[in-house]
Amino acid sequence: MAWSGIDEIRGVKACAASDRRTLSQSNSEQTPSIHRLYKPSVSTPDALKTLELTIQASMPAAAVVSGSSSAEFDGRITVYVILCGVIAATGGLMFGYDIGISGGVTAMDDFLEKFFPLVYRRKREAKEDNYCKYDNQGLQLFTSSLYLAALAASFAASKTCSRYGRKVTMQLASLFFLAGVAFNAAAENLVMLIFGRILLGFGVGFGNQAVPLFLSEIAPARIRGALNILFQLDVTIGILVANIVNYATANIHPWGWRLSLGLAGVPAVILCAGSLVITETPASLIERGKLDDGRATLRKIRGTENVDAEFDEIVRAGEASRRVKRPFRSLLKRPSRPQLVIAVAMQFFQQFTGINAIMFYAPVLFQTMGFKNNASLLSAVITGGVNVLSTLVSVAAVDRAGRRLLLLEACAQMFVTQTAIGGILLARLKSDNELGATVAVWVVVLVCCYVMSFAWSWGPLGWLIPSETFPLETRAAGFACAVSANMLFTFVIAQAFLSMMCGMKAGIFLFFAGWIVVMAAFVVFLLPETKGVPIDEMAERVWRQHWYWKRYMEEEVDCQG
Ligand code: BGC
Repeated sequence: MAWSGIDEIRGVKACAASDRRTLSQSNSEQTPSIHRLYKPSVSTPDALKTLELTIQASMPAAAVVSGSSSAEFDGRITVYVILCGVIAATGGLMFGYDIGISGGVTAMDDFLEKFFPLVYRRKREAKEDNYCKYDNQGLQLFTSSLYLAALAASFAASKTCSRYGRKVTMQLASLFFLAGVAFNAAAENLVMLIFGRILLGFGVGFGNQAVPLFLSEIAPARIRGALNILFQLDVTIGILVANIVNYATANIHPWGWRLSLGLAGVPAVILCAGSLVITETPASLIERGKLDDGRATLRKIRGTENVDAEFDEIVRAGEASRRVKRPFRSLLKRPSRPQLVIAVAMQFFQQFTGINAIMFYAPVLFQTMGFKNNASLLSAVITGGVNVLSTLVSVAAVDRAGRRLLLLEACAQMFVTQTAIGGILLARLKSDNELGATVAVWVVVLVCCYVMSFAWSWGPLGWLIPSETFPLETRAAGFACAVSANMLFTFVIAQAFLSMMCGMKAGIFLFFAGWIVVMAAFVVFLLPETKGVPIDEMAERVWRQHWYWKRYMEEEVDCQG
């Protein structure tokens, strides 16, 4: 059927006259992009622009379909875009350092004696149950308070992200973090310690909100996975550095723990300085009405003058975004359901792999198995190293193998290793004995295989997928839900793990293995592949094509414009 521009305008007006029409069974053929629909019959760019504006004005935000490009936009992978990515990703160092530092510090006698004398006494009593000697709510609160604070902070951070940009949000993150470090390193009592942790939590909440969004938005689609995973790579480096620092400071008495906590300031300073030199993302600039800056930035990061297609795409998304006054309310509407469910479920599953039982409490866990202080800290360094190296595999594979394959392979590997660890401990570690040296080494090897698979799958993809699936109008708010859900479930694990281990003993590992089966089924049936799809084309090319989620994408189009 041949379309003329005039006919189209008439069509739009006719639509405006009718009350409402449902854009149903939408897929790429039934809801073609504005360019594809009109291009054949509209000869001048101005006419095309007029048509686009007319159509946009007649559609509500949620109904603006995106996409002028069907594959990739023009542009190179520039040194500048990589540099910005590397610098911004240092936000992950702060998060990672925190994860890694608390387990080691809580295994240090000087620290326990000062802040948790009860735990200290229990630990010294030889007869204390292996699985229960660290079970103390106060001690767990030291680790977990940060995540509660981060949970609340991520909602505030989503506002600063939308209103002031990703860059400012990163700067705020580093300032909160520095303040928290000061309190922690100087702590004289539990109140100072926990207050410091809360400030660190604000830093993590702001950083984890802004950095993955920033990375996904500046990246060209074909390397978006890899660039985004730089965040997780820095998380793992942060954890490893923290483990090494703990290993070194454990022998500095009685203030080694102060050094461990104080050195958290280093990644915060790096992010603060780095955020002064990086660019703001084009999407954020355009969303806030700075069109010229947005276009100029796009040219710079893509290394080409020819950015019109991508620019138009973002402008369309920005238009939609500006019309949405209450993004959190929009998130509750049907078309946001797939992204929201997936974003939150990914966080639940990520944490219920049991990874933070290892990351927070590896030294404690290894002591539980009878390792001496130094041996357990060293084992934590080994698992930390495996974590970093395996994340590199993900950087290399994610845009080739795709997200789903990595997740499913990891489910198999994690299931086998968790079950084996649980089985060995069940058979060999009673409440009052020690694992023999050979068995203990085998457990460390299994823990490494487990960490490896997490590191190339649920670790990075838990952050990548929610940052790339929401449309611009709900991106910051939707991602805030993901961050806060992550923090909530991290809190639950941090707060409950030691008590769960006391109650369930080795069965705790089988508990996590059970969840791995559930998450594999979730990936098979409900998680679509997002590899290589431009970030503002997800609705059309991913959600509208999915066997289940497409029913949520049948939007109501209000033509009254
Ligand atoms: C998770 C953390 C975890 C870390 C381990 C991150 O993706 O969010 O909870 O400790 O990976 O590398």
